[in-house]
Amino acid sequence: MDARFYAAQVGGEIAFTVSPQPVKFGAGALGELGADARSLGMHRVALFIDPRVATTEPAAVAARALADAGIDAVPYSGIRIEPTDRSFLDAAGFAADGRFDGFVSLGGGSTIDTAKAANLLATWPDDLLTYVNAPIGRAKPVPGPLKPHIACPTTAGTGSETTGVAVFDLVESHVKTGISSKWLKPALAVVDPTTTESLPAGVVACTGFDVFTHAIESFTARPFTSRDRPASPELRPPYQGSNPHSDIGAMAAIRLGARYLARAVNGAADREARHAMMFASTLAGLAFGNAGVHIPHAMSYAVAGLNHRYRACGYEDDGPMVPHGLSVVINAPAAFRFTAEAAPERHLEVAAALGVDVRNHHPRDAGPLLAERLAAMMRETGLPGGLAEIGYGDDAVPALVEGAFQQQRLLTIAPRPVSRDDLAALFRAAMRYW
Ligand SMILES: NC(=O)c1ccc[n+]([C@@H]2O[C@H](COP(=O)([O-])OP(=O)(O)OC[C@H]3O[C@@H](n4cnc5c(N)ncnc54)[C@H](O)[C@@H]3O)[C@@H](O)[C@H]2O)c1
Ligand SMILES: [Fe+2]
Repeated sequence: MDARFYAAQVGGEIAFTVSPQPVKFGAGALGELGADARSLGMHRVALFIDPRVATTEPAAVAARALADAGIDAVPYSGIRIEPTDRSFLDAAGFAADGRFDGFVSLGGGSTIDTAKAANLLATWPDDLLTYVNAPIGRAKPVPGPLKPHIACPTTAGTGSETTGVAVFDLVESHVKTGISSKWLKPALAVVDPTTTESLPAGVVACTGFDVFTHAIESFTARPFTSRDRPASPELRPPYQGSNPHSDIGAMAAIRLGARYLARAVNGAADREARHAMMFASTLAGLAFGNAGVHIPHAMSYAVAGLNHRYRACGYEDDGPMVPHGLSVVINAPAAFRFTAEAAPERHLEVAAALGVDVRNHHPRDAGPLLAERLAAMMRETGLPGGLAEIGYGDDAVPALVEGAFQQQRLLTIAPRPVSRDDLAALFRAAMRYW
């Protein structure tokens, strides 16, 4: 534990909370899905399944396991990749009509988040925007528990299987936003890394960088001790800032990613690499679920919300959009160069974990070292070299800034204050890395 970094501050927060999250991890774990569903009291479940995953062997294993346990599973494949308000509402209609006593999701973050939103709106019907984070929505707290949901990720990316967040594109407002509540957390995550063997290389690259950014943002978030101590323990926010528990998972995820991401992108046959990335994804999800993410993710919601023309490699059939992992990492080199000034040692530790030889460097070099390493990894895995390559020019900066500035929930846990001018400078710096 970094005792100096977490030293007590006058009037500052004194404790952090680790919310328990049941996770089952292992190759073949989907074969136990029926027993898991039964033990959660499920009889008739809504099975949210990614349409591409539906044709794979792990999906057959999952369906068989549910059937063998006598569970009636009604499939729903109307998932939109990078969900929208419309696709959430369609799914909610299916969930409300079906009178289900449980939910199972098998897919990437898009599928898992769609199941969370459908479960919420079917259990506690209200307008979608009622529950959406302020200032975009009305931020009404979710009134109570939802139906049990078993989330089974098939991408090594979002960590959505462990979080209480559901993200979507609010199309008319050109911004991505979300709902967050502890009640949205799945009752159980069943993480079977064999699911990743059918992923296209481009999806492995984008989702892999989502893992990195979750982990690096958790690790570099302001320390929990720097927040004001809340008047009562219930007022502690879910995103608490970096803390010694999240640090463990975040750092392990960064090291795993540094070792395995390029291999996982290069070969579907490299099971060791793909399975290791899945474990890194779960670790990073658990870390950011308690610590939070900050500037790169805040910027990403504007980058993804404003661009509906880009077609990403590996996502050719999903229509034009910027995949989540890409929309985040494309800001990351610029953002970490900026945040390193506030916490140079932490950023240097990250650079070292990514394989940079930092022995002859001073912590003040951390920003450029980390930024250059991340950019090199993006290049090596075939990602675009900046916002200019995905269709943004300097004229888009004011709109990007507005979209990002709304994400105060995330920006407040950045290691330093972030003004509109800072965001404008960051978007300009993210235009071209090579
Ligand atoms: N809830 C959270 O905590 C959280 C965190 C980060 C991101 N997100 C959200 O999650 C969404 C992105 O999810 P994602 O990055 O996991 O990807 P995804 O669910 O959008 O899927 C990406 C692509 O991979 C395909 N695919 C998925 N699994 C596959 C498999 N096993 N084999 C072959 N193809 C497969 C999909 O059909 C799609 O084409 C975004 O909307 C993002 O904002 C949520
Ligand atoms: Fe993310």
